[in-house]
Amino acid sequence: MKSSPEIIKKINSLKEKVVDADYKYYVLAEPDIEDYTYDMLMKELIELEEKYPELRTEDSPTQRVSGEPTKRFKVVQHEVPMLSLSNSYNFDELIDFDKRIKSLIKDQKYEYVCELKFDGVAVSLVYKNGKFTLGATRGDGTKGDDVTNNLKTIRAIPLSVRSDQYKDFEVRGEVFIKKDDFLRINEEQEIRGEKLFANARNTSAGTLKLKDNKVVASRPLNIFTYYLRTADTKLTSHYESLNILKDLRFPVNQHFKKVSTIDEVKRFCDEIEDVRDNLPYEIDGVVVKIDSLAQQEQVGYVSRSPRWAIAYKFKAKQQITKIKSISLQVGRIGTITPVANLEPVFLAGSTISRATLHNFDEIERKDIREGDYVKIEKGGDVIPKVVEVIVDKRFKESKKFATPSKCPVCNSKLEKPEDEVNYYCVNYFCPAQIKGRILHFVCRDAMEIEGLGESIVEIFLDKGFIKDYTDIYSLKNHKEELVKLERFGKKSVENILNAIEESKNKPFDRVLFAIGIRHIGFRTARLIANNFGSMEKLSSAREEEINEIHEVGPKIAESLFNFFKDEKSIKLIDKLKKAGLNFEMESSGEMKINENFKDKTFVLTGTLEKYTRSKASEIIEELGGKVTSSISKKTDYVLAGKDAGSKLDKAKSLGVRVISEEEFEEMVG
Ligand code: IVH
Repeated sequence: MKSSPEIIKKINSLKEKVVDADYKYYVLAEPDIEDYTYDMLMKELIELEEKYPELRTEDSPTQRVSGEPTKRFKVVQHEVPMLSLSNSYNFDELIDFDKRIKSLIKDQKYEYVCELKFDGVAVSLVYKNGKFTLGATRGDGTKGDDVTNNLKTIRAIPLSVRSDQYKDFEVRGEVFIKKDDFLRINEEQEIRGEKLFANARNTSAGTLKLKDNKVVASRPLNIFTYYLRTADTKLTSHYESLNILKDLRFPVNQHFKKVSTIDEVKRFCDEIEDVRDNLPYEIDGVVVKIDSLAQQEQVGYVSRSPRWAIAYKFKAKQQITKIKSISLQVGRIGTITPVANLEPVFLAGSTISRATLHNFDEIERKDIREGDYVKIEKGGDVIPKVVEVIVDKRFKESKKFATPSKCPVCNSKLEKPEDEVNYYCVNYFCPAQIKGRILHFVCRDAMEIEGLGESIVEIFLDKGFIKDYTDIYSLKNHKEELVKLERFGKKSVENILNAIEESKNKPFDRVLFAIGIRHIGFRTARLIANNFGSMEKLSSAREEEINEIHEVGPKIAESLFNFFKDEKSIKLIDKLKKAGLNFEMESSGEMKINENFKDKTFVLTGTLEKYTRSKASEIIEELGGKVTSSISKKTDYVLAGKDAGSKLDKAKSLGVRVISEEEFEEMVG
């Protein structure tokens, strides 16, 4: 079809909107449009570019995922080697570093820039004529792998920059995965029966080396940049480079500081170590660099490291304790997970009494046994893991841990698919699986039914009020009996029943996730829901049609297709439909904007009495406001319920207005 000036204008405007939304979401962490709106813009752009392929440019946001899987990564030579840093582990070593600098720089004044040492994977991004043309891993420092196609999927990386001054340059930075994204990836790996990743860093490294960039795109990779090299303009300091990177819209971490004494460096390190656990990404220390680029050259290099920089490494979060016993958990899809019950030990802020052992391969590989002393480590996960066995402390009679052949809950046989590491209980009606499916259905990311915790679900199952998650919606028929249960009052039963009714407003993508189809994680459910728009269309879709969705692979397509063919699933879906759950994506429709809410940012804290958090968020968003999780100067209102904790203090200290539920209702009008 022939394009017209209107089409060109439309495509350019869509591109700009998507690029802008990516920048706000991934770089500034201040999204200003709904996910749904974003998906629709992207969909429209993809469709228009399909119709007018001649208007598709390489830097279009649709081109982040593309092409055939890479067969083999090309090796590329770095124009300037990518060096490593020498480490220091205590403050005395930092003082020695400062003394060395002082003597090398002679009598000149000098300053340092302190930044975070991100625990990720170093990459180089080369821009030619303003376009991202080559992305490479560090490799051996001199030569790395060309992973341009994989890096393009990272939406925080601009595919092109708009600048008259900077056109040809190299940027370096650290690719990483946020702590909570890492947990989600491992959850999804578990759902798929695939090997769990040891930590976020390995996941980033492994992901960058995947051959299929569709899979890379489905992993939430992120980047912070910390280096700029260009011949376009004369740079004089590192601090200046960081600010230019920010202006060029690259993601630069907010925690960097220029200081002039080593005492100030120490203060920075202490401050960062204090907040380390609260950061949403992993860091393993602080990097200290001489600020002036001329002085960096003057101080020079030793073998593979600059003399002008040093890493100050934080202490590892590890402890040694004893495994009292190993027990087996059965997940909602029947996955058997071994868990170590530990002699309680204090580690990085909390007492630890359990550690995950992931799977039986892992037990075998590390030869972990009951009674062993082990080194445990806390990563991004709240549940720590066993790093290694202290073999010297093993008692003589200890025996290898035997992989079970029967389900510990229902005694059914276990199966291990050939290409997976997990063992599964094959009984769909295994009580542990039934309970797991219900708990998944009600969990926060799914139907978010507050009050239906594990112990209550167990009671309801035990008393026969529910047999699967669809029965939750007929619990209201048992109200009289529920009120009579021990520990249940009229009020608490009403709260639960209200939360159940409210969950019916959850959008279709949440419903799709809640159902618990194998391989369908939270993000995938959203993608699929947006693409098909309704359960009806999805359930009658052909496998190839599902596979065609951007970022959806064949395993997911097969799993969905099989799910909708299965008698048991058809019955479940039918019951949910009758219960009145959302089986269709709502069109964005007209928003009922309310001036009190328009463009205002809200943070919710404490226990709200009249609304669930999701309901309150829904109201705010419907009326034109937005809800974020942490308070900053940009927050307009904090809606505080009972027992509001530290957020309330923070709101007060920042002078952010705190409102009660009553005031909130007045604003809603
Ligand atoms: S500067 C010569 N800055 O640490 C300077 N590196 O051991 C080296 N890293 O390969 C790069 N955060 O992967 C620099 N703020 C930061 C960093 C950082 C993490 C990593 C990077 C590098 C390794 C050096």
